[in-house]
Amino acid sequence: MEKQTILTGIRPTGHLHLGHYFGACSNWIKLQEKFDTYIEIADVQALTDNFNNPDKVRKSVRQLVVDLLSIGIDPKKATIFIQSTIPEIAELTVFYSNLVTIARLQRNPTVKTEIKQKKELFGESGESITYGFLGYPVSQAADITAFKGKLVPVGEDQLPLIEQCREIVHKFNSIYGQTLIEPKAYLSEIPRIKGLDGNEKMGKSLGNAIFLADDEKTIKQKIMGAITDPNKIKIDDPANPNICMVYYYHKLIKNPNIETVCEECKNGKRGCVVCKKELINHMLEFLKPITDKRKYYENHPEIVDQILKEGNQKAKKIAENTMKEVKKSMKINYFE
Ligand code: TRP
Repeated sequence: MEKQTILTGIRPTGHLHLGHYFGACSNWIKLQEKFDTYIEIADVQALTDNFNNPDKVRKSVRQLVVDLLSIGIDPKKATIFIQSTIPEIAELTVFYSNLVTIARLQRNPTVKTEIKQKKELFGESGESITYGFLGYPVSQAADITAFKGKLVPVGEDQLPLIEQCREIVHKFNSIYGQTLIEPKAYLSEIPRIKGLDGNEKMGKSLGNAIFLADDEKTIKQKIMGAITDPNKIKIDDPANPNICMVYYYHKLIKNPNIETVCEECKNGKRGCVVCKKELINHMLEFLKPITDKRKYYENHPEIVDQILKEGNQKAKKIAENTMKEVKKSMKINYFE
């Protein structure tokens, strides 16, 4: 039986953090065993709100690929490619843009949240919202459909984008005839990871993230600053582990002594400093194999480049094929 295709993407704007890892990427490692897996480094999408910082996007592309390889994405099983090397995606974006209203894009909850964050940063002028940024969900629909992705493994924040893609596909097929595949989102067990500060979401811009590439010193500092039960003042005060970020991360990285941590915390038998130090040790242990693999790829940039070149080539063929079908359906295949 032919393997089903899954496609996912990630913006190259910095290193992966634990939120990416537990919220989405660890799922990709499992899925690559069973599915024909495509992972897009979405540089064109990253440029929609980093168009004035091309150096950052360029640098992040290889960094991100190294992160992905270090956590166990296997280039023999998953095709990693760069969005901008597949011009068919940009072409599809143009075709799909006729099938989406501006009002619908403005109502997309993910876009809405991002616009709100931008307004907080740049003021009410709204000048920071470009045509390209508002349209990135259309381009994301092109990413997914160019590869006929059936399943899209993503974090929870991406659900409105997958829904928007389904609508575009539906409209395309109903106007031009059955051509594209309507994708489904595929969430991981924990689709959203809390930040060190207790915020519901871990994010780079929120400043509450542990990056997979953080060094020992940084990890120590970050964990020592994590939010614990504010009612615990003295070392032997009983506390509530369920509102403590240190306990949350003990659980997340599967500390085998988790029950002891919980009991001791509840009974005032464990101070926060000791508990944080224990978490630091487990975290460093958890990150060790990832760090070792990163060193290997950092020392072999030619291997990373080769993986990308092969990935780009393979992805390009598939997108070309889809493009042929799309042009035929849209009756713009003039010389065939
Ligand atoms: N929007 C995604 C993010 O911000 C990245 C992305 C780009 C993506 N293209 C995609 C995700 C296609 C899934 C499918 O992380």
